[in-house]
Amino acid sequence: MKDMLVRLLELPSGAALEQRLLEKEKIVVRRAIAPEKHLVCDWVMQAFGAYWHSEVEVAFSRQPVSCWIAQRGNAILGFACYESTARNFFGPTGTLESERGKGIGKLLLLKSLESMREMGYAYAIIGGVGPAEFYEKAVGAKIIEGSEISIYQHLLRKP
Ligand SMILES: CC(C)(COP(=O)(O)OP(=O)(O)OC[C@H]1O[C@@H](n2cnc3c(N)ncnc32)[C@H](O)[C@@H]1OP(=O)(O)O)[C@@H](O)C(=O)NCCC(=O)NCCS
Repeated sequence: MKDMLVRLLELPSGAALEQRLLEKEKIVVRRAIAPEKHLVCDWVMQAFGAYWHSEVEVAFSRQPVSCWIAQRGNAILGFACYESTARNFFGPTGTLESERGKGIGKLLLLKSLESMREMGYAYAIIGGVGPAEFYEKAVGAKIIEGSEISIYQHLLRKP
């Protein structure tokens, strides 16, 4: 798995996508808040497993919470975190399988990257991808050569 680099100074606007998701799909994309930590973490555990659950828990330890979520009514449809495993890193992120292809992942990505830009970063790193084409297409991310030896290199595995 390699990392990717994204230039934050010319991010595409997510405004039209946000409006379309809200009006056509009744999907709200917003920053998660502390009282729903248990619900978001449980959902990520169930949908994506223990590693991402751990990373989301860290995102909820930050203020403001460094996790964006997509919801329809009371149902969580997707999530995206930043600065969980390393400073300036985006991820993890995921959309519920049945809701993919609607633009949820792209909007969660844009919201997270905008948050990082507001923190003062000019570039962001997508850690350990994953679907490189998705990131290339959505925000022009480029593979960082040599990055396969990464922060996840010695990740502990359950024996
Ligand atoms: C990657 C993921 C988050 C994308 O979520 P999504 O909500 O389906 O993404 P979107 O609908 O916003 O897709 C935006 C665009 O990227 C494209 N795209 C989505 N997933 C893609 C993929 N895996 N490969 C290539 N293109 C992809 C879509 O077709 C869409 O193109 P369009 O703008 O021309 O319509 C989702 O597939 C997922 O949860 N995958 C499993 C978890 C994962 O791999 N997370 C990333 C870890 S680094």
